[in-house]
Amino acid sequence: MQEETSVLSIEQAGAGVRRLRLAAPGTCASARPGQFVHVRVPALDPGAMRRPISICDAGGGVLTLVFKIVGRGTEALAAVRPGDKVDVLGPLGNGFPVSGPGAAPNSAAAAPCSAAAGNGDPTSRFYALVGGGYGVAPLYFLARELLRLGAPASRVAVFAGGRTAADILLAEDFAALGVAVHPATEDGSLGARGLVTAPLDAWLEAHAPDRVAIYACGPAPMLRALDERAARIGCEAWLSLDRRMACGIGACLGCVQKTRTPSGTETLSRVCVDGPVFPAGTLVW
Ligand SMILES: Cc1cc2nc3c(=O)[nH]c(=O)nc-3n(C[C@H](O)[C@H](O)[C@H](O)COP(=O)(O)OP(=O)(O)OC[C@H]3O[C@@H](n4cnc5c(N)ncnc54)[C@H](O)[C@@H]3O)c2cc1C
Ligand code: FES
Repeated sequence: MQEETSVLSIEQAGAGVRRLRLAAPGTCASARPGQFVHVRVPALDPGAMRRPISICDAGGGVLTLVFKIVGRGTEALAAVRPGDKVDVLGPLGNGFPVSGPGAAPNSAAAAPCSAAAGNGDPTSRFYALVGGGYGVAPLYFLARELLRLGAPASRVAVFAGGRTAADILLAEDFAALGVAVHPATEDGSLGARGLVTAPLDAWLEAHAPDRVAIYACGPAPMLRALDERAARIGCEAWLSLDRRMACGIGACLGCVQKTRTPSGTETLSRVCVDGPVFPAGTLVW
């Protein structure tokens, strides 16, 4: 749906990062973790492309987005003020299922976040939520949903990677949910030094693969490393791709990704409607 939302607040959520809260009752009503909204940036020309931003949280009619200023669109979006109107299209994309080793590729939409999805009793599984940079944004909504469905906080672990401490976002928000946060920074300024896969590997070694589900969002090299791990150790994993988008609704083919069907045939998927979440083993890197 398309909704004219109203800015409730906009604040810093890290260096060059903003947390934007919008009054968006229509969008929130059907939002699921892992979905995104396509935002028309008010200050840009009305013909300018919308910008896709993950739903960081949705509840009580309030849509929360956390975004990093990287260019013209996000810079202009950071200039909105309370009371401004922001047109959003969404929720879009399939979203994360709670679990689903039995789910067919590109069918995450058919297995939305619910206790009945996949093989999943959320209370008996261990969840690794792995985010690179702003990729942690959709994982916050997912963490909240897992807890709501009954997963004990002790079974949910967040692995957040970035170049420096400034790139580790939402750590306090996750901690407030009671879930463990394992940061990793390339310069060693926060948490483990190196890639986010280092603390994740230690955690994976301590858990039986058939009881683990990895949910990830971030840059392609990180997702590829997780895809390879999932294949190696035989655990379930769901990977949310970050791709430049134009229409956001499957019409322009601007976001295609090569994927593999269950029979092994290669095909093309549209990240905006068939994804952005894909099961491990289905992306052709
Ligand atoms: C499904 C989805 C969810 C997203 N969720 C978030 C989010 O929650 N928070 C957030 O900060 N960003 C998110 N993004 C990325 C965000 O859409 C882009 O950063 C934004 O569109 C850039 O617009 P701009 O006009 O500021 O930058 P531009 O001027 O368009 O580009 C500036 C620089 O950013 C690069 N860039 C642009 N878009 C992307 C992209 N999608 N991925 C990687 N590099 C890109 C460009 O190549 C260029 O180097 C998401 C993207 C997708 C596809
Ligand atoms: S962005 Fe147009 S088809 Fe995906």
